[in-house]
Amino acid sequence: MTKANKPLVAGNWKMNGLRSSTKEIAKLAKKLDKGKGKPKCQIMICPPSTLLAPAVALAKGSRVRIGAQDCHTAVNGAHTGDVSAEMIADAGAAAVIVGHSERRTDHNESNTLVAQKAAAAHEAGLTAIVCIGETEAQYKANRTLSVVTAQLKGSLPEGANAANTVIAYEPVWAIGTGLTPTADDVARVHGHIRNRLALALGDDEAANVRILYGGSVKPDNATELMAVENVDGALVGGASLKATDFLGIIAAYQK
Ligand code: PGA
Repeated sequence: MTKANKPLVAGNWKMNGLRSSTKEIAKLAKKLDKGKGKPKCQIMICPPSTLLAPAVALAKGSRVRIGAQDCHTAVNGAHTGDVSAEMIADAGAAAVIVGHSERRTDHNESNTLVAQKAAAAHEAGLTAIVCIGETEAQYKANRTLSVVTAQLKGSLPEGANAANTVIAYEPVWAIGTGLTPTADDVARVHGHIRNRLALALGDDEAANVRILYGGSVKPDNATELMAVENVDGALVGGASLKATDFLGIIAAYQK
């Protein structure tokens, strides 16, 4: 079966990046355009919201798409400091990450709120990249599958489908630590997520939802992780800040 969606390798810059950092996006765009071996994946950078507009301008006409890292549930209104999905779409971005574990922890975001944010993203025509993943304590207590099941169920809004939603499985203990689960563990969790998606969306739709792995993806482990069954790309933090490192990860899809 040919999948309707290509894998996605997305970079999450988190709260990193000044105007001078957008040169990395220009470099990425240029290298991907000129480089040999067209990558068999989509490529995205999610910079902080201050850089969305310049990033979109730099990536225009290239293989690089731009996404945001969070959005508010409302279209507009009295929400000082927040950014709406409509504003993100208006800046020219194609997607928004919602429910990243750092938002769930730093801002106490619940599954319900994450689902509302994903719905707002869909309403604005953006792809929602919905993050789920267990903490270290939950992992050690063998609760990974039940945690992921509950997060998935609670964080997916009505109307989620393979075209407007991407799932990112990110074990919290693997984010920024250099630790990764074994390929067998990743296969087990991603297979489980696929099955749960099938229950929610039906087999055909679920087969086309991209399930990204995230957490310490680096050029030297990307090939192994991206080859795991039901892994349809990566969500990359630290190694997405420099074009050279990110290209090393994208190379997993250039073979
Ligand atoms: P990391 O972050 O690649 O730096 O571990 C991943 C993420 O938080 O998306």
